[in-house]
Amino acid sequence: MKPVTFGLTLVGMDPDVKPTSPLPDGWSALAGRSSTLLRETQDEGGGWPASPTFPPYGFCWFRDGSFVAEGASASGLLPEADRFNAWCADVLKRERPAVDAVVDAVAAGTDLADSNYLPARYAIDGTRHVDDWWNFQVDGYGSWLWALERHLGRSGGRVAPYADAVETATRYLVATGRGTCRDWWEEHRDQHHVTTLAGVSAGLLAAVRMGSLDRELADRAADVAAEARADILGSGVHNGHLVKWLGGDEIDASLLAVAALYDVLPLDDALVVATVDHVEALLTDGGVHRYPTDTFYGGGQWPVLACLLAWHHARAGSATRAHELLDWVVGTTDADLLLPEQVAPRLAPDRLAEWDERWGPSAHPLVWSHGMFLGALAVLTQAEG
Ligand code: BGC
Repeated sequence: MKPVTFGLTLVGMDPDVKPTSPLPDGWSALAGRSSTLLRETQDEGGGWPASPTFPPYGFCWFRDGSFVAEGASASGLLPEADRFNAWCADVLKRERPAVDAVVDAVAAGTDLADSNYLPARYAIDGTRHVDDWWNFQVDGYGSWLWALERHLGRSGGRVAPYADAVETATRYLVATGRGTCRDWWEEHRDQHHVTTLAGVSAGLLAAVRMGSLDRELADRAADVAAEARADILGSGVHNGHLVKWLGGDEIDASLLAVAALYDVLPLDDALVVATVDHVEALLTDGGVHRYPTDTFYGGGQWPVLACLLAWHHARAGSATRAHELLDWVVGTTDADLLLPEQVAPRLAPDRLAEWDERWGPSAHPLVWSHGMFLGALAVLTQAEG
């Protein structure tokens, strides 16, 4: 897997990569702007703020950051991805005592407060930031392992500098990965989320494949990965499609990640095909909404999710549909070619004002939107050969 550079000269460009054929109108400009934004917004220590201009998102999430690093790595920004991975490794080194305590408590069956678990987001310098915003989500640690393996594969990097961090993340996910936590959208604390289980499963298998774990932990990680997948197949299905949480019946666009990103099920599995059909039918109208009852900033359409759907279609052989979706994403840029978190139309327009009053206008730019655009574009470009 080589990085794709879309015919652009990017910092960190692999000299062996030949420029690809020209991209459709607007796509090259957005790819270039996305690369610049990723370089401009990355802290010298490697962290990326979820948004450089929206104060509530002035933190580095493992989830957002991992997908941004994937977009960076896939588009030739290899040093930037290296720096983010080093940031994650530093965080996990610092968090090792907390992980030891969680592992021991889980083994002993002791109840833990959410603040005992690892946070989903950190201050940009990698230290913990304590506030009253719920912060316990485990998917980001799985996504980091997933993205790290992909990046090392592309860049020819060695796992050795990350071995301690990979071990810490693996032990953490083995202990916590099948429990309840908040979902990709930071909601529903008491559910077992299918997308989260898929991220845990994918991350654990990536850790095993990277080859630095000792045999006992590798075996345990493989077992938990299989159990998380079995959880999904056992109770994460309703009427033939995947659902937001085990035992539920609601659709959620993050479920597109189960196959398209995490490869927990094949792209052509009947469950995946039915899930994509549901997302297309119930949540997609140009762009893609998160889930039917979303009210956050009125429940708009997210470029991150249109890119994720395009990613699926590019890999599944529907290049035309992937093009339509990426065209829609390009159409959401502002005059400075920056992508927002979400745009109208909204599912619950009457719920927009309360968020505008609380936090001001929603995040714009959202760095994850740009990272996902670069990632989806690389997948589509590679699929088209
Ligand atoms: C979203 C998360 C995201 C965070 C930062 C939240 O509003 O629900 O998925 O990680 O913003 O972008």
